[in-house]
Amino acid sequence: MLLVGLGAVSTTTIAGVFAIRRGLAQPIGSLTQMGTIRLGKRTEARAPRIKDFVPLADLNDIVFGGWDIFEEDCYAAARTAGVLEPAQLEQVRGELEAIRPMPAVFDQRYVRRLDGPNVKKGKNKRDLAEQVVADIRAFKEQHGCDRLVMIWCGSTEVYMKESAVHATVATFEKALEQSDDAIASSMVYAYAAIREGIPFANAAPNLTADIPALLELAARTRAPLAGNDMKTGQTLIKTIIAPGLKARLLGVRGWYSTNILGNRDGEVLDDPESFKTKEESKKSALDYIFQPQLYPELYKDLCHVVRINYYPPRGDNKEGWDNIDLVGWLGYPMQLKINFLCRDSILAAPIVLDSALFLDLAKRAGMSGIQEWLSFYFKSPMHAREVYPEHDLFIQLIKLKNTLRYMRGEQLITHLGREYYD
Ligand SMILES: NC(=O)c1ccc[n+]([C@@H]2O[C@H](COP(=O)([O-])OP(=O)(O)OC[C@H]3O[C@@H](n4cnc5c(N)ncnc54)[C@H](O)[C@@H]3O)[C@@H](O)[C@H]2O)c1
Repeated sequence: MLLVGLGAVSTTTIAGVFAIRRGLAQPIGSLTQMGTIRLGKRTEARAPRIKDFVPLADLNDIVFGGWDIFEEDCYAAARTAGVLEPAQLEQVRGELEAIRPMPAVFDQRYVRRLDGPNVKKGKNKRDLAEQVVADIRAFKEQHGCDRLVMIWCGSTEVYMKESAVHATVATFEKALEQSDDAIASSMVYAYAAIREGIPFANAAPNLTADIPALLELAARTRAPLAGNDMKTGQTLIKTIIAPGLKARLLGVRGWYSTNILGNRDGEVLDDPESFKTKEESKKSALDYIFQPQLYPELYKDLCHVVRINYYPPRGDNKEGWDNIDLVGWLGYPMQLKINFLCRDSILAAPIVLDSALFLDLAKRAGMSGIQEWLSFYFKSPMHAREVYPEHDLFIQLIKLKNTLRYMRGEQLITHLGREYYD
């Protein structure tokens, strides 16, 4: 499992897998490790664990590697991130110290608040991409891996729009040669992975692989893709609560969300250009869930505000507040307040693991391109251009589980259930 960016999310994922496979902790939050799937009719009482139902890679067989602009090994990086307790990190210290970041493809133009020494040099972006391909091949060889998965867990890059350069593989490759500004560092990694036919996921909101050129390349090399931006924290809660309100046709006039966050991610997001990328990703969910075009009386003029405030004392332990202004029967107003004291990377790690394992499964099952059934894990799910993205967490879960049933030739579950009453 190749992770780009060995920061809070990556090191929490890696240290977690090490602790779990030694029996020191539980994989809480991971569908692949703890989830079950109902098969057949309710009367059949068949509900195996997902990992016993589909052939997922075993945690014991995973090897980790990655890139970062800082030289510190994974143990030191996990200490810097400050998510897991020092005593817990001590238990897996040797394994963590063995993971040293490969030099990164990095340009401060795309992440303005960071700078580090462990950076590749090359004559153009094409050359840098070839260096990443060489890293990937060397890693595979060195560790005797059968298969690889790459996940971007690097910082949020500045806001970028799709442009002419992103239109086809040919225009993209030409732009790599010319080191065009429209090619962000994350795209260089994504290009390298996809060209190698390796599954790629984007845990951050950057544009990255969500461009026609890389979709075209993925179709050619049969690489499965997923993204963007892991659904954790406030957005996770939003996509749990909003479908419930809509199901009962309760109107929403306003949804104000604010956060305090003190980790490096918070520091990067303090830059307005990186925040804009995050804001776009966070704001789209409600529009799609509420469907104001179908329910103008309930949701047309919804005022949705999202704020992130960098506040160092809290570190990775984010606190989020939501104020929701609701409207009920005959237009009477109500309010709902949510105060979530969460741990960002503790919520992210299990879903980084799940997406990696499911993408690897997809590759072996011959599924390539956008894996919409993995929308469950993302704030702004990648989707075919002709359809809107599905943001409702519960529809996303049904879609994910039905995809697994479909893969194994099991009946899809419609929840009709007439047969019990006829
Ligand atoms: N923590 C969460 O719950 C969560 C949820 C959704 C999305 N994300 C996103 O995941 C990403 C990682 O979050 P984090 O909390 O681990 O942040 P972090 O700052 O702790 O880690 C990011 C790491 O990426 C490295 N990096 C930046 N650019 C790089 C490049 N071009 N090549 C290699 N390494 C690079 C940084 O040096 C840093 O070590 C962020 O984009 C964040 O927005 C996090």
